[in-house]
Amino acid sequence: MKLGIVGATGMVGRVMIDVLENRKFPVSELYLSTSEKSIGKELIFRKKGYQTISIKELLSKKPNIVLFSAGSYISKKWAPEFVKIGSTVIDNSSAWRMDDEKKLIIPEINASCLSKKDKIIANPNCSTIQLVMVLYPLHLEYCVDRVIVSTYQSVTGTGSKALIQMNKEKEGTISFEEKIYPHPIYQNILPHCDDFLENGYTMEEMKLVEETKKIMNNRDISLTATAVRVPVIGGHSESVNITFKKEPNIDHIYDILLKSKGIIVQDSPQENIYPMPFMSHGKDEVFVGRIREDYSCLNSLNLWIVADNLRKGSATNAVQIAEFLMKKKYV
Ligand SMILES: NC(=O)c1ccc[n+]([C@@H]2O[C@H](COP(=O)([O-])OP(=O)(O)OC[C@H]3O[C@@H](n4cnc5c(N)ncnc54)[C@H](OP(=O)(O)O)[C@@H]3O)[C@@H](O)[C@H]2O)c1
Repeated sequence: MKLGIVGATGMVGRVMIDVLENRKFPVSELYLSTSEKSIGKELIFRKKGYQTISIKELLSKKPNIVLFSAGSYISKKWAPEFVKIGSTVIDNSSAWRMDDEKKLIIPEINASCLSKKDKIIANPNCSTIQLVMVLYPLHLEYCVDRVIVSTYQSVTGTGSKALIQMNKEKEGTISFEEKIYPHPIYQNILPHCDDFLENGYTMEEMKLVEETKKIMNNRDISLTATAVRVPVIGGHSESVNITFKKEPNIDHIYDILLKSKGIIVQDSPQENIYPMPFMSHGKDEVFVGRIREDYSCLNSLNLWIVADNLRKGSATNAVQIAEFLMKKKYV
């Protein structure tokens, strides 16, 4: 399989390379592309060095699959060019997620809706993936009515410049030009992920609402979100309150989650066992714990979800989509 990555030097792009290697994805030729400033950099895949190239040069290689991870402007501009030459694009940006013509895929949930005709496939937002991985199997049994989610999102979710800001604030060497958040992030918390919209919510919060409904193919679920940036290097956490249409049985809830592919239940509070972002680093699974009834509201429960935003939240999910396309011979 001839494979290209756009944004290969980024936080997600680098993890995509690792995930392809870890999962033994069959790559016959690999092409890694970056912005102009990083062309010629060497990145390692399977102990071999690869020099990064421009997107134009990548296009000339006619890859079978291209993983895009360089922001929505680049995806909007270049993904259609790759489709013209026969490539299938898996896009990690927000460019196509809410496009009615494009599918928004979490392989464990809705990959079966894909066909050979899907040439641009959207990877959901990191905070959406970990939420829906847990919501969906519970929805099948108990029918989700309303969700209240508060996120605790790590700085790597913003990209490599955010990590530089936090590290330099810690060292006391930050310059004005290096700040990408409007306030310090080191030893601080920002109730602010992505840009604010006119409705008072941020784009990240509305992505959680709209993408969840699209993936679950259900416009009736009520969902409200508060997305918060925390000074954690990697791994997003979410406090989630769910109200179901049917009365949930807690033992059965555990059973469903224990049997769900891609989910690990960590829930022994007496032994201080619960999901934490630090422990999620480099893991492909979504971790869930603190599962308990909400005594303030009928048919409701609270739980805590953690995942590595650079793995299942982005790179792993994209590579799983590529694996599915290969298995079905759609590429
Ligand atoms: N970080 C996450 O947890 C996460 C999760 C889900 C989705 N995403 C999405 O994934 C994408 C990448 O995020 P990231 O965190 O990896 O960002 P990042 O660390 O800032 O990396 C951005 C990558 O895009 C490349 N790039 C930037 N401008 C470009 C241009 N004009 N032409 C070609 N390449 C260009 C960069 O190349 P240079 O090295 O040359 O600058 C770099 O490889 C974004 O769309 C983001 O929303 C991120």
